[in-house]
Amino acid sequence: MRFFLTTAIDYVNSRPHLGTAYEKITADVIARYKRLAGIDTYFMMGNDEHSQNVYKRAVEQGLGNRPIEYCDRMELEFRSVWKALDISFDDFIRTTEPRHRAAVQKLAQISYDRGDIYEGVYEGWYCVSCEAFKQEKDLVDGKCPLHPTLTPEWIREKNFFFRLSKYRDALLKHFADHPTFLQPDIRRNEILRLLEAGLEDISMSRAGQSWGIPLPFAPDNVVYVWFDALINYAAAVGYGTDDEKFKTWWPANLHIIGKDITRFHTVFWPAMLMSVGEAIPEQVFGHGWVNFGGQRMSKSLGTSVDPLDVAGRFGPDPLRLYLTKEISYGGDGDFTWERYEERYNVDLANNLGNLVSRLAAMAEKYRGLRLTGGGGSGRLAQVADGAVTRYRRAMDGFALHEGVAAAFQIVDAANEFIAETAPWTLAKDPANADKVNGVLFDVAEAIRVAAVLLRPVMPASTAEILRRVGDRTPVDQLRLDRDARWRNDGEREIVKGAALWPRSDVSAGAAAKVEEKTAVSDTPTQPAAPTAAPAPAAAAPAPAAATPPAAPEGDGRLSIDEFMKIELRVVKVLEAEAVPKSKKLVKLTVDAGAEQRTIVAGIAEAYAPEQLVGRTVVIVANLKPAKLMGIESNGMVLAASLEGVGPVLVGFEKEIPPGTRVR
Ligand code: MSP
Repeated sequence: MRFFLTTAIDYVNSRPHLGTAYEKITADVIARYKRLAGIDTYFMMGNDEHSQNVYKRAVEQGLGNRPIEYCDRMELEFRSVWKALDISFDDFIRTTEPRHRAAVQKLAQISYDRGDIYEGVYEGWYCVSCEAFKQEKDLVDGKCPLHPTLTPEWIREKNFFFRLSKYRDALLKHFADHPTFLQPDIRRNEILRLLEAGLEDISMSRAGQSWGIPLPFAPDNVVYVWFDALINYAAAVGYGTDDEKFKTWWPANLHIIGKDITRFHTVFWPAMLMSVGEAIPEQVFGHGWVNFGGQRMSKSLGTSVDPLDVAGRFGPDPLRLYLTKEISYGGDGDFTWERYEERYNVDLANNLGNLVSRLAAMAEKYRGLRLTGGGGSGRLAQVADGAVTRYRRAMDGFALHEGVAAAFQIVDAANEFIAETAPWTLAKDPANADKVNGVLFDVAEAIRVAAVLLRPVMPASTAEILRRVGDRTPVDQLRLDRDARWRNDGEREIVKGAALWPRSDVSAGAAAKVEEKTAVSDTPTQPAAPTAAPAPAAAAPAPAAATPPAAPEGDGRLSIDEFMKIELRVVKVLEAEAVPKSKKLVKLTVDAGAEQRTIVAGIAEAYAPEQLVGRTVVIVANLKPAKLMGIESNGMVLAASLEGVGPVLVGFEKEIPPGTRVR
């Protein structure tokens, strides 16, 4: 099996920002996941250099007659950012390379020979920042909506046109025959609407410019930058230069791109390939935008974030985790420093990092750092097996956020398991030595499996975690099939070390109590969340936590960390049935994104089962299961409790996909 994966190639008129880095990080997570799954993967990225903006920047830097020198410098800058973020590309292409030029000229010539390229005159608007021809209807108040501070240029020039209109029906058929060609569905629908409205031929050359690849059949013209750039994907695997390689890797399995450039990748590009008789890539995924404090990232507006600044704060892995876990892949996301620090503290310092430290502290104190398999309870093994299945399903469907959440379910379960089994109490009686060993072995194993699953997201830290839980497999040889499976046997030598992620309390936004937690404790950390949370009105009662209840600090209000532990999620009701002998309870089967769950909710007096089916509701997703009238309930439905009316379900003004987190 092979997997050829690409990202968009970046314009080099400025350095990468957090938005462009988001694309590379998430694509890298997919590439690393495929490799972990044992698939022969070719992951490529690159730079898009023949843009007028790039040329302008070169002129500004005094390199107007040597723009290539400017591009050489930028290549180094881009590569150093990608290296700092641990992006594991196999190939990096530049559109000024000879292999790319050869591919562009070959494709243009074949398409021309087949009569799909003809000469004409283009007259109309051009947005230099988009590098795109715009129709009147694309402009708002005469401006490009994506670049409202710029005035589009009116151009009239002799151009060569590509017969895009000829491919409209074939494209519609391709979309119909390949329903997952463009993901997520919202993007697919946009493009289908565009295709249904009809296509016009597009200009594929520019006149009077020297910066670009000359057309082989009319060398006074250069190839239009988008027609040029799209061909990079084929050029990288040998189109026009290495037939053997091209045969091995083409067509691409997945193009990862931003939502603003889906039209180029799913209309122009497939039509260009159809014109020259080459296969069309299997899938295109159009991810959303990463904004900064709710605003579009832009250098000129001062809303651009340097990914190196973020990676410099806690290292690359926390950034990779944040972008993958906190943004539903395909949707838009947001970055703020406060939120970033919050998530770092919750997920890494308090949760995963603390778990690794506590295991080492207890393993040392009670077992001299040596653990032996064989006596575990099987409970964590079951959680881990379920999580691995959900992880694979999510990752295969590019629901990266759900994949990461599945891995963290193992971490949460291991923390709960420690609190419930209280090894520090067991250890008081030497007769419990085997039990203590069993608990700690299971915890070490849970951490090991979670680390294998998190490997694509946090490559450096998971290597360290695996070392600490005594796993000796060279990390590059880890394979999901073999290594994400629960192991009951063998000896483990646990390794102690400094806190992986010391708690941070620097930002002004962190209202939480300053509590330096570099020292490792073997007593339970304050269990936050469910028990301390105010109980939402109508739903089934929450089971009492088995861990010692948290004493809310100070005036009883929750810290942000405590609140963030409550996992509120959107679910869709698939089935609903009355619970026999109960007036209040209804049994729901819900789609929670990565899984289905059963929830018993106390809303039967206000809602008939048939009113519930198909409805989107919000649940508390990380409650321990509770048995109600003999049925196990996995979560609690949120509703307002209205005097005299009864429960009223929480809902949304827009359609929200199941699994989305609410906060
Ligand atoms: N050069 C073209 C792509 C050619 S691909 C044949 C281009 N370059 S870009 O530098 O403007 O953008 C590179 C990628 O980053 C694009 O996929 C774009 O959608 C993405 N992003 C740019 N800003 C972004 C955010 N703020 N958030 C997420 N992705 C963003 O377009």
